[in-house]
Amino acid sequence: MRISVIGCGYLGAVHAASMARLGHQVVGIDTDAAKVDSLARGEAPFYEPGLPELLRETLSTGRLIFTTEIAAAGDAQVHFLCVGTPQKRGEYAADLRYVDAAVDALLPHLAPGSLVAGKSTVPVGTARRLAALVAEAEPDAMLAWNPEFLREGYAVKDTLHPDRLVYGVPDGAGSDAGLRAEALLDEVYAGPLAEHTPKVVTDYTTAELVKVAANSFLATKISFINAMAELCEATGADVTQLADAIGHDARIGRKFLNAGLGFGGGCLPKDIRAFMARAGELGVDQALAFLRQVDAINMRRRVRMVDLAREVCGGSIVDRNVAVLGAAFKPDSDDIRDSPALNVAAQMQLQGAHVLVTDPAAMANAEKAWPDLSYAPTAQAAAAGADVVLLLTEWQEYRDLDPTAFGQVVAGKRIIDGRNVLDPAAWRAAGWTYRALGRP
Ligand code: UDX
Repeated sequence: MRISVIGCGYLGAVHAASMARLGHQVVGIDTDAAKVDSLARGEAPFYEPGLPELLRETLSTGRLIFTTEIAAAGDAQVHFLCVGTPQKRGEYAADLRYVDAAVDALLPHLAPGSLVAGKSTVPVGTARRLAALVAEAEPDAMLAWNPEFLREGYAVKDTLHPDRLVYGVPDGAGSDAGLRAEALLDEVYAGPLAEHTPKVVTDYTTAELVKVAANSFLATKISFINAMAELCEATGADVTQLADAIGHDARIGRKFLNAGLGFGGGCLPKDIRAFMARAGELGVDQALAFLRQVDAINMRRRVRMVDLAREVCGGSIVDRNVAVLGAAFKPDSDDIRDSPALNVAAQMQLQGAHVLVTDPAAMANAEKAWPDLSYAPTAQAAAAGADVVLLLTEWQEYRDLDPTAFGQVVAGKRIIDGRNVLDPAAWRAAGWTYRALGRP
């Protein structure tokens, strides 16, 4: 099929390359010329394992091109909207300016019979509004909502082998228009469907809600275990053993029960806030009141981390040297949006500590966004002369640190494991004071 992908960020760049991998003819379009140039050279403008290889492979087939020209979308049978929907400044609601701009730019190029497929996470009701604009511009074009569930770090795998496909189609499943939209999307996803990927065909609003409901559930699961961590801290219990034990219950499951510094990133925090804002507009804010607690528990973990560091440093962090391992919001990503690690680093610096941050992939992004923080190229350099080391993003290389060798570079052997990934016995045996969130 001929496909356009509008917006080539974390989602769109991976989607474009993956669609070409599935055998389609793809044009990726973005307003950022530097991003387009880099993608066209086969260089991923951000860190995503497997993406550079996939880009090079698909570019070499000639089935994938990148451009800033929206007119290049004119030929496509399916247009994927992959632009960002960040949180509005000073508000909980989502900022839809990029979605609106992408649709406005696309409308004059819509061909009869084409399908606009929204992938961005949007407030419920957006698809219906955009569908009217599409119908007005080209009565024989259609809109579907096809939310994306990819995780950064696994984006290529999640796109090529998704765990489910959700289509929100015009007039709902089984209608004439719905069946036409479904047939087009089935052709796009013929590869994953052949692997028996489950498919849910539904109406616009359900499809929009699926995405925010999924992210709200995941955020709730993380905050649930972090609330248990608070209980563990008050009682001397161990939250990692608690998570293992409740996780054996198949109804609960162990995934997303890792207690620690909590969630960040470009999705979970802003999606639960936008969901609360939308529920308020719909007059059902009480239904999502629990998400306020989910958000509050999550933010409290960051404050607790600073307090714990102060405790470990003997009551004050003023003039103390602090090594922060990790800047990305999670490992295997260079994304620093709402990064818990950088939030903690900045709080500690503001409170008078000398903070050195390091990260294997996110340093350039961190330096750009947080120029007032100081950075070191490696864990060893960050920890040289440190009074306390904070492990805040669980990159494999930090999990693999040898406590004996690492103990040689610091001034004081104190470590706080913000992600509960180190072996406390091994670190304590090497002479370290080991502390963690939710563990004795
Ligand atoms: C998330 C959803 O998983 C994905 O389906 C959606 O499409 C976009 O949002 P992502 O933001 O890439 O994906 O990250 P994810 O792996 O979900 O992690 C989110 C945050 O939760 C990270 O900061 C991570 O460190 C934290 N987390 C995750 C925990 O604190 N504990 C856990 O057990 C799991």
